[in-house]
Amino acid sequence: MKNLIAANWKLNPTTKKEAENLLKGIEKGIKGLMSEVVICPPFVYLPSLKGLELGAQNVYFEEKGAFTGEISAVMLKDLGVSYVIIGHSERRKYFGETDESVNRKIKKALESGLKIIFCIGETAEERDAGKKNEVLERQIKIGLSGVENLENINIAYEPVWAIGTGNNCSVEETKESINFIRKFVKPETRILYGGSVKSENSGAYIKDAGANGLLVGGASLNAEEFIKIVRSSEE
Ligand code: PGA
Repeated sequence: MKNLIAANWKLNPTTKKEAENLLKGIEKGIKGLMSEVVICPPFVYLPSLKGLELGAQNVYFEEKGAFTGEISAVMLKDLGVSYVIIGHSERRKYFGETDESVNRKIKKALESGLKIIFCIGETAEERDAGKKNEVLERQIKIGLSGVENLENINIAYEPVWAIGTGNNCSVEETKESINFIRKFVKPETRILYGGSVKSENSGAYIKDAGANGLLVGGASLNAEEFIKIVRSSEE
């Protein structure tokens, strides 16, 4: 099984030119490497980015109709997009995403032939209250409810307190969480780690924590740094 290294560009960069240059830089630097690398830019850049596998950062659970501002799985697939991130904690926090809407989105995206990067993770409060496993179990069980075939499902374990804070989760704790998550998926399901991944800490998640890939936010906006992260996962 190949490691999956996904770049979550979030609401960046601010122009199409910058997006194209960033992608070109990454493409050049990862030539010959073995990992599966997926770039998840804002929707509007998807049609102009060529050369690497692409993912969207969100999708709607209806196919068409009167849903102003939404994008469907069929539209993404038609554009040649292969992956979609679903359930990112920023969408849960700022845009009212729930375990139930995540589940509807996952089912719709699978139906359209997209591969999923399904994000789960506990907040600092939930962790402090000793509820981490309970939260992860709920997110997985509701998120994947009615999903029989896990072939196109990848789980990204992203502790909310570790995202964008520089406070990445320790390898020991990540390993524990990955082992816990493993109980609810197939042995061949890839489980990624995300949350303040940098080239200095990235390799250990693969080698020591048992992750099968990484979901990289901030550090994926710098081609050189992102390339180092992909390399580190293969050493
Ligand atoms: P970060 O973001 O690497 O900037 O912490 C990761 C993510 O939100 O997917």
